[in-house]
Amino acid sequence: MSHTYSNSQKLFERASQVIAGGVNSGIRKMEEPVPLFFSHGKGCRLWDADNNETIDFQAGQGAMLYGHGCEGMATAMYEQALRGTHFAAQTQLEIDVAERLCAMIPGADLVRFNNSATEVVNSAFRLARGHTGKPLILKFEGHYHGWSDEGLVGFGASPEKWGTDEKPASVHPSQGVIPEVLEKFIVVRWNDPEHLRQRVEEFRGQIAAIIFEPVLCNTSCIEPVEGLIETIRELCDRDGMLMIADETITGFRFGPGGAQKHLGFIPDLTILGKAIGGGIPFAALAGRKEFFEKIISGQVIHAGTLNSNPLCLSASKWCLDTLLEKGDSHPGTLIRLGQKLMTGLRELADKHEIPLRPQGPGLVFHAVMLKDGASEGPVHDYRDLTKRNDAPRWAHLRRCLLEEGVRAIERGLWFLGLAHTEKDIEDALARAEIAFARHAKEYQA
Ligand SMILES: Cc1ncc(COP(=O)(O)O)c(C=O)c1O
Repeated sequence: MSHTYSNSQKLFERASQVIAGGVNSGIRKMEEPVPLFFSHGKGCRLWDADNNETIDFQAGQGAMLYGHGCEGMATAMYEQALRGTHFAAQTQLEIDVAERLCAMIPGADLVRFNNSATEVVNSAFRLARGHTGKPLILKFEGHYHGWSDEGLVGFGASPEKWGTDEKPASVHPSQGVIPEVLEKFIVVRWNDPEHLRQRVEEFRGQIAAIIFEPVLCNTSCIEPVEGLIETIRELCDRDGMLMIADETITGFRFGPGGAQKHLGFIPDLTILGKAIGGGIPFAALAGRKEFFEKIISGQVIHAGTLNSNPLCLSASKWCLDTLLEKGDSHPGTLIRLGQKLMTGLRELADKHEIPLRPQGPGLVFHAVMLKDGASEGPVHDYRDLTKRNDAPRWAHLRRCLLEEGVRAIERGLWFLGLAHTEKDIEDALARAEIAFARHAKEYQA
């Protein structure tokens, strides 16, 4: 089959004349051999500008939980567009969506809407500082909370900038950031409850909130060790810090109640993005009523011209109803299909002597590619991944997979969605067999 990309290549060259770097989100430049241009998608399949057909596990970076080209969503949006796309005022639709969210998410008494999770994270930080009167935010190394000055602290640092194991450095991967922002964050290694306790002790009385991805999906795919979430909850209750669960990826993917229902905890604030809108720009801050007081009173400002525009709300309502209709079957089916894919990939890796170790709960997982001589066993935090993962080797395998019609995320993550079937997984594994054989033959370190 081996796809080629001459049309995407030509479009990328044309785009680069008028779009800075040829892409509109920096990470898209990572795609090899060229950032792809797509013409359409249906279910879990995509067609690019060269008419190559691909089974999609990138899922719009997690937003496309329901698949591509959903007719129900398209109809809802079309009908709403004819009635109006934006009034900068209230509509009944926003109550419909808010009522569904408050019924689905354990930590949601109230919500506020924005258009991206990056904005919601910044709202949550402001609200936490306004509510507690304290200046600092504690976050975990390798957790991604959007691309703003505040959201990206402690993400993607190279080893020489890490700081010690006891005191991870507060660093930012971008230039141009307000330097003082870094002083307002405490960075903590993931999956070490004792280390977390020590860091909280060090800054006790100054911390407004602890933010985390309940299952870390932006650095490998790492579930919390036993006792970690409980420790976060305990420390937040003890010191009056707000517990902020960033469920931008886990929300809805882990079931209608998100990872908080799946893992059994109730945060004070929840960030919802991506699958809340199924591919349209929509995101929400959800939380316990008492923590919204400063937004209600207007002392903490929350605003946005396009917030709660009815076009996005019509799509979100369709997404939430689709999940509710799935009932108890979700996320069980996704977990089962994902585990089947993980097992199949591991078998192919063993057959072709490729050190690939898929890890995660199935409905999302990361294909860890072990470096030569790296130890076995699951990756447990950001530093561990950086030490053991062979990123260039994964990039080569990822390209072989893409050229055989299987699209995973550039950094190694795979998303299962409601449109994937047993047959899609079997097709993907049949294509992966060719890709793995090619990689084993062609790859040179
Ligand atoms: C956990 C998490 N939080 C926040 C964000 C930011 O979302 P957005 O890109 O919609 O602003 C992302 C995006 O990948 C994310 O994965």
